[in-house]
Amino acid sequence: MKSNKPVHIAFIMDGNGRWAKKRNLPRNAGHKKGGDTFREIAKYARDSGIKYITFFAFSTENWKRPKDEVDALMKLFSEYLDEASKQVDEKSRLIFLGDKDVFGDDMKAKMTGLEQKSKQYDACTLALAINYGGRADIVRAARRAGKLCRDKDIRPEDIDENFFSGLLYTSAMPDVDLLIRPGGERRISNFLLWQSAYAEIYFSDKLWPDFTPHDLDEAIEYFGNRDRRFGNTA
Ligand code: IPE
Ligand code: IPE
Ligand code: MG
Repeated sequence: MKSNKPVHIAFIMDGNGRWAKKRNLPRNAGHKKGGDTFREIAKYARDSGIKYITFFAFSTENWKRPKDEVDALMKLFSEYLDEASKQVDEKSRLIFLGDKDVFGDDMKAKMTGLEQKSKQYDACTLALAINYGGRADIVRAARRAGKLCRDKDIRPEDIDENFFSGLLYTSAMPDVDLLIRPGGERRISNFLLWQSAYAEIYFSDKLWPDFTPHDLDEAIEYFGNRDRRFGNTA
């Protein structure tokens, strides 16, 4: 069956560093420009009627990067939180995927505050994956399942795929339909491993800061031409 419009689009925002390098700029300038692209694409996707939009902003592996780069990314992230707190978009729900405990109290409070404040909006759900790893997500869900069996009236045989999905960071979202990775690499880099089981994957050689609404339209058109069989016959 040909699918028409994706319900959940997820982006791996990759290529900021190379974008800056090509212009003889510091990597952090690429991250700043990548942040502008994020704002533009988030708005465009929402206005195009995409119900669930996820952005991979920082992985559990990205802590390996030099401290000044990590600090600059955290600063950009914190600026975005302040901006989002000031101008709450009364249509979109905002959620954060990943372990918030590594962040300072101030940042954590801003994240949970935004999640609480936007909980009531359901026209669109915008998820930002920060300190997120697909494997960490699955391990955390397995631990939560273990605790439910130990402390609550849940039996191991009650844990099926649907139940397990509800224990992941993405419990409020359906599976990914379209996964978009700009930046030229053809890999998943530990993003939504469970949730992308049947995602259509669209790789683009464009670097994330150069990614435009037109590129998103092309990815959506590509998705529209896929025959999604989910293991069935055509
Ligand atoms: C993506 O761009 C941003 C993060 C991973 C935080 P990169 O910083 O990975 O850019 P490249 O891949 O080095 O060009
Ligand atoms: C993936 O990009 C992570 C994010 C976009 C946040 P990376 O640049 O970290 O991925 P690798 O290292 O090329 O696989
Ligand atoms: Mg990269």
